[in-house]
Amino acid sequence: MLKHINMKQLTCLLLALAFSLSLAAQQRSANVNLIPEPVSLVKNGGHFALPQQVTIQCAAVPELKIATDLLKEKIGAATGSFVNQVTHSDKTPAIRFVLLAKKDETLGAEGYQLSVTPQQILIRANEANGIFYGVQTLLQLFPAEIESKEKVAGVKWHVPCLEITDYPRLGWRGLMFDVARHFFTKDEVKQYIDAMVRYKFNLLHLHLTDDEGWRIEIKGLPKLTEVGAWNVKKVGTFGNFTPPAANEPRNYGGFYTQDDIRELVQYAKERFVNILPEVDVPGHSLAAIASYPELSCTPGAENYKVRSGEQIMDWSRGAPPIALLDNTLCPANEKVYTFLDTVITQIAKLFPFEYIHLGGDEAPHNFWEKNEQVKQLMKREGLKTIPQVQAYFEKRVEQIVISKGKKFMGWDEILEGGVSPTAAVMSWRGMKYGIEAAKAGHNVVMSPTEFAYIDYMQADEATEPRVYASLRLNKSYQFNPVPAGVNPKYIIGAQANLWTEQIYNIRQAEYMTWPRGFAIAESAWSPADKKEWNDFVSRTEDHFKRLDLAETKYSPAIYDPAIRVRRAADKSLSVELTPEIQGLDIYYSFDNSTPDRFYPKYTAPVAVPKDASLLRVVSYRGKEQVGRLISIPVSDLGKRVGK
Ligand code: ACM
Repeated sequence: MLKHINMKQLTCLLLALAFSLSLAAQQRSANVNLIPEPVSLVKNGGHFALPQQVTIQCAAVPELKIATDLLKEKIGAATGSFVNQVTHSDKTPAIRFVLLAKKDETLGAEGYQLSVTPQQILIRANEANGIFYGVQTLLQLFPAEIESKEKVAGVKWHVPCLEITDYPRLGWRGLMFDVARHFFTKDEVKQYIDAMVRYKFNLLHLHLTDDEGWRIEIKGLPKLTEVGAWNVKKVGTFGNFTPPAANEPRNYGGFYTQDDIRELVQYAKERFVNILPEVDVPGHSLAAIASYPELSCTPGAENYKVRSGEQIMDWSRGAPPIALLDNTLCPANEKVYTFLDTVITQIAKLFPFEYIHLGGDEAPHNFWEKNEQVKQLMKREGLKTIPQVQAYFEKRVEQIVISKGKKFMGWDEILEGGVSPTAAVMSWRGMKYGIEAAKAGHNVVMSPTEFAYIDYMQADEATEPRVYASLRLNKSYQFNPVPAGVNPKYIIGAQANLWTEQIYNIRQAEYMTWPRGFAIAESAWSPADKKEWNDFVSRTEDHFKRLDLAETKYSPAIYDPAIRVRRAADKSLSVELTPEIQGLDIYYSFDNSTPDRFYPKYTAPVAVPKDASLLRVVSYRGKEQVGRLISIPVSDLGKRVGK
């Protein structure tokens, strides 16, 4: 065919080829690894080179302060460039923020447009929230070293030329942080907020009370924090600790004063994060009962202590659990509603967010079933079942919340026995209760265990603190918070939940949150059709570098295979190793030595040799070890599948 074209045509063809090759090379060199993926991104070729003197031009609006401060701080620390901020400039400023005088309907309150040309970086938005998210995106467009806390030499501080238009799928993009099981200080909560806003989360749900601690000062109820905030320090595997002896010091824990709360609320607000407070009642209330035993209707409650991780529930028959002691507030005692009125009045004043979460999950029924006061309540109110007793409790609590000008939210158990139509539901036992609630016209936040429980193990139990379930990144990434067949207007949010029974410190809280938080952020922010697993993995790996430099911990579990054990009819064991991501080779040994890439490569399920006592596994990408060395005694493999 070529022999029929003339010289002019050939030149054109070659020029076109050269142009498309150079465009492809530019796009490759300008790697863009944004999380969450934006709505629309057009790369234009070329780049903006950061000058030594950087001017940020923006209006003198207080809400823009954090966005400019963040950019100044990051650029200043990592690049050594001098950054100044002006409201007007005769010369073209390097970076410009514009709050649109004429609102752009598509962008809404949180969207932004980011335009990078060789001359300028321009972020436009309707509101300061959008500028803040534009800045978060911009930081992700710089080389990863922008996250360094010290000046990095030898980096070309280039930003690829492009046009981004971006806005969120959902207005509630949440992370729940359980500060009750283990207390996390005010500064640690701020650190958690700093990490979440990089990924455009805008809601922090603080689980403030539970059996293990009451974490918020309530005026007039001093024992909640004198007694309820403290337990006995135990280290190891939470849940089955030996019950503390009477003389063991109860000095582990802490609480936030009301000033602390105001400071946290303000810190979050400046970063466009709402804080949703949760007081978990009527179950999960041992810390409150240990402080004020009259809140219980079970004799002997005056001897109850704040839980230190010893067993208090029997889960062997599933939910609701059988309580070994009564950790519920008494639904038949008026003092309980007076107590909750005091608590909710103060919480309503401290937290400006429209919702207050009152828990409602996992309330055991076995003490209520036997209780005379509860029986009388049932007779008086015509309640036929114990779930109806809980529904009675929830409705009364909702009335208190409404009387303080707030909206009521609870875990999906509040649907059992009937709930008022204005109650909002946080669906955790899968998506199905959320779907049911949305169909009944309730507002719903989806935070189902199967995709969004980031306290679950994210890799094999050989490398993780033991939790009763697992959730790998690829599963989290499949989260679609707005299921088909449901009116999307009722799905107000998506959220991941970090319970901290097994999380003793902020580093582990970060490890559990990232990278699964990336998956939840993208599920809540990005259009569903923009999600693509392999692409997400390569962006995730770029963000690992960023988190390393930012000194935020994350889990490298994607490099470790899932390990599945089978026992054959002849009782012999075999092991199946499944990589989570593409392009990895897995090597293993049964001879107690440490495998490397010259060891047997895994290709198909392997039989465990009869006399082997240890399986070791490691993953490589080419010549580089990327996975952790995993060592599992064969006796443990056997236990996983029984005899
Ligand atoms: C829950 O996980 N119990 C809400």
